[in-house]
Amino acid sequence: MDKHEELKSLFDTLSDEQKAPLLYGAGAWHFHGIGRKVRPIELHDGPLGLRKVSEDVGTMGLGESLPATCFPAPCLLACSWDLELEKRIGTMMGLEARDQKTQVILAPGVNIKRNPLCGRNFEYFSEDPYLSGKMGGAFISGVQSVGVGTSLKHFACNNQETERMISDSIVDERTLQEIYLKPFGLAIKDGDPWTVMSSYNKINGVYASDNDYLLKDVLRGQFGFQGLVMSDWGGTNDYIDSHNHGLDVEMPCPWNRREQILRALEKGQLKHEEFDSCARHVIELSEKVNSPQKEMPFSYGLSHKAAVEAVAESAVLLKNDGILPLTDLSQYCLIGALAKTPRYQGNGSSGVNPLGLVSFLDFVNVNRDSGEEIKYAPGYSLEEKKDGLLLEAVDLASKSRGVLLFLGLPSSKESEGYDRFNMDLPEEQITLVNELAKVNSNIVVVLSCGSPVELPFLSKIRGLFLIYLGGEGASEGLFRLLTGKQSPSGHLAETWPLHYYDVPNRDFYPGKNRQALYKDGLFVGYRYYESCEKEVAFPFGFGLSYCSFKFGLVSLSSLNVKDSSPFVASLSVENVSDVAGKCVVQLYIHPIGSHLVRPLRELKAFKKISLKPHEKQEVEFDLDRSIFSHYDTKSHAFAVEPLTYRIEIGESSLDIRSSQAIEVSSSYNVDSQRATLPDYYFVSGRGMDVPQKEFETLLGHPVHVISNPKVRPYGMNSTLGDIDGTLIGKIAKKLIVKSLTKNARSEAERNMTLEGSLSSPFRAGTMAGVKENYLAAVVDLANRKPFQAIYHLLFGGKI
Ligand code: BGC
Repeated sequence: MDKHEELKSLFDTLSDEQKAPLLYGAGAWHFHGIGRKVRPIELHDGPLGLRKVSEDVGTMGLGESLPATCFPAPCLLACSWDLELEKRIGTMMGLEARDQKTQVILAPGVNIKRNPLCGRNFEYFSEDPYLSGKMGGAFISGVQSVGVGTSLKHFACNNQETERMISDSIVDERTLQEIYLKPFGLAIKDGDPWTVMSSYNKINGVYASDNDYLLKDVLRGQFGFQGLVMSDWGGTNDYIDSHNHGLDVEMPCPWNRREQILRALEKGQLKHEEFDSCARHVIELSEKVNSPQKEMPFSYGLSHKAAVEAVAESAVLLKNDGILPLTDLSQYCLIGALAKTPRYQGNGSSGVNPLGLVSFLDFVNVNRDSGEEIKYAPGYSLEEKKDGLLLEAVDLASKSRGVLLFLGLPSSKESEGYDRFNMDLPEEQITLVNELAKVNSNIVVVLSCGSPVELPFLSKIRGLFLIYLGGEGASEGLFRLLTGKQSPSGHLAETWPLHYYDVPNRDFYPGKNRQALYKDGLFVGYRYYESCEKEVAFPFGFGLSYCSFKFGLVSLSSLNVKDSSPFVASLSVENVSDVAGKCVVQLYIHPIGSHLVRPLRELKAFKKISLKPHEKQEVEFDLDRSIFSHYDTKSHAFAVEPLTYRIEIGESSLDIRSSQAIEVSSSYNVDSQRATLPDYYFVSGRGMDVPQKEFETLLGHPVHVISNPKVRPYGMNSTLGDIDGTLIGKIAKKLIVKSLTKNARSEAERNMTLEGSLSSPFRAGTMAGVKENYLAAVVDLANRKPFQAIYHLLFGGKI
């Protein structure tokens, strides 16, 4: 019997009673099994490393986790532009998961960075769908190569943390397909993840957990996904009906829902074939994660080594006026509290309990050749302000040859669960740079943050290294680059705007009244900045090196593309310096005179190549006509506009070194919408807050604008914040704030849980172990229906 037949005959022996528990979690970190027939499954977060938490810390499980390797955050890893490296990190994480008896890692996240303020940007790769999808696919291949599953998340349009569980991402079909769904499609094609996690939010009015279009038409139909779909934690809109729409498992679940599921089956509220399909997906996953694997022991040494190398391959050198590499580090002083207390990961469910974290201060002192310890002053405090730190630092800087200055966002600023308010570094840090610059002109800044910040002091410093959130190996990886043991080769995976004011969706992000209007359409990140020629601090794809690379002329194997035959773009790249290094060769397409709304250029391929001093290499890209395609909303499929395109190759989206025109023919007829979508055809630098009518034309229908979501009647999708004007709301809020103040382990955790509690729908309260009928009774009371509340309390049930 082959595997398929075996599964079928096992399935035939199972009763509905046995299968029902497969449709909801066994607590926070397990799926149910069925006796000896189906083994249970254990799953834990990613994506920075394994976060194995025990069941007893609650269903959100933000508590301490078992020690594990903390890898760089995806925001940094993406800057490596190195798929082999990303795969290796995945493999290491998979081995560590195996070692800790974890069968599925809840990662990677491939959501697009739509705005720099999204609190969770550090967990995502890029503003570009192609780069995001390729990195995600590589990570998945690595993890799954050792028999551990992944969960590609958060499907889809979870691009903000503000009201993430109730907000509605209103986005036109073409943008949805080309920008927000694309990375998922690519990661599925390249990595074939065993599971996908649906997002919290609604997409065009329908929650992701019961969105037929997303879960059935796109995921299973268009992307051919065969695996299992689970909800995000507490993100199941209706724990019965969602199974009719493509959600296999509700996560987490502190309750026994067996009877409810069986009753729904009996009443026909849950379709039998859908029920079977959910159960089948769990059984198939259990088979996969429990199948025998090659003996391959986990080695923390190798894992930590990979974490260090990943930093050295990814950290981005943003400025160097010749001061770097530092050959005389011993004559520098070290300033900045972050040099002693590193900011190496973000807050929330991705938090890892690192095994080998070392601060830069300690690393330098332990690894110095000889002589005294490096002189250090904190310069600022990461918590409350302290007097005297500034003066002490200025004094130290005035006596040193140069200053290595660690700046960055304090941990409480960036977290899952809430967004930032601005792109500013703390004022204290800005004052510090300004004062240091008055006494020392050799300042090199090392920056730690999960997403772009404004850099008003850029002209006052001589060097700038961006390490984002570098994980436990950040100090060692950075040391290699700073001292020239290795040449930097990281390139930005997102644009760094000059000011928040320049961000295209600044006027309407993160939305109003729970509606996030994606008026920016396709113009996300560099697609906007390049199209309207807006000056930025650092463009997408940018990164300096200690080498210089000379690009030859692009040559194409064919100058006409008539059919689906592949073609090749090639060019030579030469390292014209005396040091070895790596170059990230980026290939963009640039349509000329398109009749469609189109960004100026879009990334379609990339390669990272290693070059010895003065070595020249031929770089080849295997391409086909699909790189020219756009999503056609009439046929609901990708199509190619007949046009002249330029194939552009360079070192960033702004630094195109060589290009070549190519004629693409096709029978596709374009209906220009130039007259009705003027702001999309002629993107101006004023942002993308286009008139509502025009956005509705793009959408193809009017937006039903919600004026005040906080009004009666309240329901299970209302929030505690909605009812905080009612007596029951005031009491509940008081109790929650009191408990958080007592139990939260950090300011970020307090903010995250408070924001989460106020903006989570009542239905998600089950996650915290509150029974549905209690939640229903709270909603009844807020609706001034005390008798109904009593009924719910006495006889159970949800609204
Ligand atoms: C996050 C997911 C995470 C899950 C489990 C949710 O709040 O959005 O990314 O995997 O919690 O910790």
